[in-house]
Amino acid sequence: MKNGLEDVIAAETRLSDVDGPAGRLIIRGVSLDDLVADGTYESVAALLLDGLMETHVNAEGLKDRLGAARAEVYAHVVADATLLALPPVDAMRALVARLPDGEDFETALRLLAAPAVFLPAVLRMQRREAPVPPDASISQAADILRMMTGRLPSFEQTAALDAYLVTISDHGLNASTFASRVIASTHAGLTSSVLAAISALKGPLHGGAPGPVLDMLDAIGAESHAKTWLAAALDRGERLMGFGHRIYRVRDPRADALKNALKPLVATGQVDRSRITLAEGIEKAALAMLKERKPDRPLDVNVEFYTALLLESLGFPREAFTGVFAIGRTVGWIAHAREQLLEGRLIRPKSVYVGPFPIAA
Ligand code: SDX
Repeated sequence: MKNGLEDVIAAETRLSDVDGPAGRLIIRGVSLDDLVADGTYESVAALLLDGLMETHVNAEGLKDRLGAARAEVYAHVVADATLLALPPVDAMRALVARLPDGEDFETALRLLAAPAVFLPAVLRMQRREAPVPPDASISQAADILRMMTGRLPSFEQTAALDAYLVTISDHGLNASTFASRVIASTHAGLTSSVLAAISALKGPLHGGAPGPVLDMLDAIGAESHAKTWLAAALDRGERLMGFGHRIYRVRDPRADALKNALKPLVATGQVDRSRITLAEGIEKAALAMLKERKPDRPLDVNVEFYTALLLESLGFPREAFTGVFAIGRTVGWIAHAREQLLEGRLIRPKSVYVGPFPIAA
């Protein structure tokens, strides 16, 4: 039995190749750098779904279909008091749960649009502001920022969010994607798959990490305090958020993709350069300390470290970071669910009985 299914191959896939030793990510045969270089969310979403749905659309066609789907799901936005008392990712999930289930392209479109519409609406309603209806004529990334702030984003802001959504769109059998495949394998439907995946994603060991990365940066405050703070945290047995990965034993390639996506925002004064400098100093101190303390276990920076700075620079509150992660990863969850339906069987591993729990004395 492999604890945490470490190194267990649970599926064959044509979607993404996460090369842990080399620190490389390939999605449908395209390198991450190439995807980000010419990538919008619509282009990577069309690529991931290509051949997996009964309907084929290219990036331009998907942009139009998604615009219409955002307008359709907006009708499900409701200012329900109990909903508004929840953390944003839970409120978003509760709205997604109101959508019908299905395994077809129409269901997939609704699900690609839903988190993008629901999260900005929840953020505004929780601030006692009226939600902003979607604009079907613009891209998903531009509309997300527009629905959140009420105004059109800059070119650099849209490009930065596109880079983020592309970078995190798919990543092999991570916990939330595996959850999506398990639910799909019972034929429960794509909405059920996405709901299970959002639930898995919100855990701090998975997609719940970027918010705590900012908490760490704020707690440290200045590069000169980094070593003392980090040493105390590790002495308490805490994990440093934004570091370590089950697959990558070297630097997560997405960290630099997102660090690069921040540069145009820095160059145009849309993000405080000192914030980036502080983060780089803390990253350097953390890597040195982890190397010293865990020489047998290479722990490098992962995708969440610079995710935190990028989403903060775009105006997302840290409690919404996991929701933004879900907006980008939903297409990966759906692609894997469809691949499981087309090529897989019911997922049902075995367990070995090792006897009753010792009765507490
Ligand atoms: C994501 O799988 C994916 O692809 C996920 C993801 C995706 O795109 O879907 O990449 C997204 O989830 C990124 C990871 C975000 N989470 C964090 O940043 C939280 C902090 N990191 C971890 O908790 C941890 O590194 C994991 C959960 C990411 C991976 O953990 P593993 O592979 O299960 O390793 P482990 O828990 O068995 O730890 C092994 C050792 C332990 O030390 P010992 O008990 O053996 O002495 O490494 C230590 C851990 O304490 N360790 C860390 C650490 N991560 C692992 N110590 C300090 N800081 C850390 N961040």
